[in-house]
Amino acid sequence: MKIARFSRIGFILAAAGSAVGLGNIWKFPYIAGEYGGGAFVLIYLLTVLLIGFSIMIAEMLIGYLGRRDTVTSFEELAPKHKPFWKLGGFQGLAGLFIMIFYSVVIGWIFNYIVTSLYFLPSSVKEAETIFTSMLHTDIMTQLIYHTLAFVLITYVLTKGIKGGIEKLNLFLMPTLMIILIGMFIYALTLDTFSQAVSFMFSADWSKIDSEAFVVAVGHAFFTLSLGMGAIMTYAASLEKDSNIVKSAFWVVFLDTTIAIVAGLMLFTFLYQYGSGPAKGPGLVFISLPAAFYEMGILGNIFAVLFFIALAFAGLTSSVSLVEPMVQYFIDRFNWNRLKASVAMGLFFYLFGIVALLSNIEGISAYLTWNEKNFFDWVDYITAAIMLPLGGLIMAVFVGFIIEKSRVEAVMRPQLKWAFEPWYFSLRYITPVAMLIVMLNLMGVVS
Ligand code: TRP
Repeated sequence: MKIARFSRIGFILAAAGSAVGLGNIWKFPYIAGEYGGGAFVLIYLLTVLLIGFSIMIAEMLIGYLGRRDTVTSFEELAPKHKPFWKLGGFQGLAGLFIMIFYSVVIGWIFNYIVTSLYFLPSSVKEAETIFTSMLHTDIMTQLIYHTLAFVLITYVLTKGIKGGIEKLNLFLMPTLMIILIGMFIYALTLDTFSQAVSFMFSADWSKIDSEAFVVAVGHAFFTLSLGMGAIMTYAASLEKDSNIVKSAFWVVFLDTTIAIVAGLMLFTFLYQYGSGPAKGPGLVFISLPAAFYEMGILGNIFAVLFFIALAFAGLTSSVSLVEPMVQYFIDRFNWNRLKASVAMGLFFYLFGIVALLSNIEGISAYLTWNEKNFFDWVDYITAAIMLPLGGLIMAVFVGFIIEKSRVEAVMRPQLKWAFEPWYFSLRYITPVAMLIVMLNLMGVVS
């Protein structure tokens, strides 16, 4: 049914583009800051290596064997109880839900690209006033940029896997890496770099409680784009005989490296020009612009480049968040790509407006339940429940449901001696770890 296939490098960049997102550059530095650095980073890294990597391979395998949209792939690969297993494919909905707030945040970033051209706040206090007044009072600005995000993302999706998603990633991903590496090299020359290194890597285990643990594991999932079929949908467009393990390795490697490079660079700047780490979600929108201000004109240039890199990271992740459901409507309902893309786009666009309004003073009260507004609820339900659940389903599906011979035929030649450990980890280690995370997260966040 689908003829368009990724090129080898196109697939790796698209999957890495999905993984490298706001999670790496916006979220990772501030949660690492909040939970005290070193030990937290170590738990995150171990989770990526021990659990993330093996689920990444499993998710790619389902797509590669299924070759269809996520729902159909689950259905066709399950030897029996097909109607039940096909529900696993509806994890794709999580992507649309994530987009509800993701698109609003990309809108903020667009706004910061434009304003950083001519203005930076002269103190953290001023930066905070600017950010919170945008967030809580400025409907118009947020709406305009949220609309721009919606238009761009939907446009790329209408162009399909080859002409849209692959092209976008072939251009945006290298650009993003060049910007980050350039800024990282500058950070290397500052004497606070070593402070950033010791903050990120010297482990202080007293800072780790069960909440920090759960957040680190949850983040490993989010940042690798696991658990909702984004990577699976891309893998359905892999050429036959592609090497899944190598691709998965590159995606994990690029995602982790970029998170660490971005973190070291940001912390160096914050030590050198600002108030140090540990500043919460406002880190890149509040502390960072104030630190850039101290650099003079170079600060404006860095600020604009940084927000462009952040926007690129967000856009390449966005297309991967929506594509699974687009693919579903094309495959199952015979919609054409234009119709499917616009329909899915409108879904996150309209609910995105609700999310945006739920932060606005005077409206917020009507869109808040149990102390969380609509925006926070969407974030919470997707990250705390849907993604870990998705990871669990995929591990169990590959570990127990698809016939072992089928899994083995593809994976043993690629994994060699590592096949049995990988299979064991999918069957036993991952499910138990995911259950613990889910139960904990539900308790911790609520
Ligand atoms: N990984 C992206 C980030 O770090 C977000 C993302 C894209 C994602 N696609 C996903 C998260 C699929 C979970 C599932 O920002």
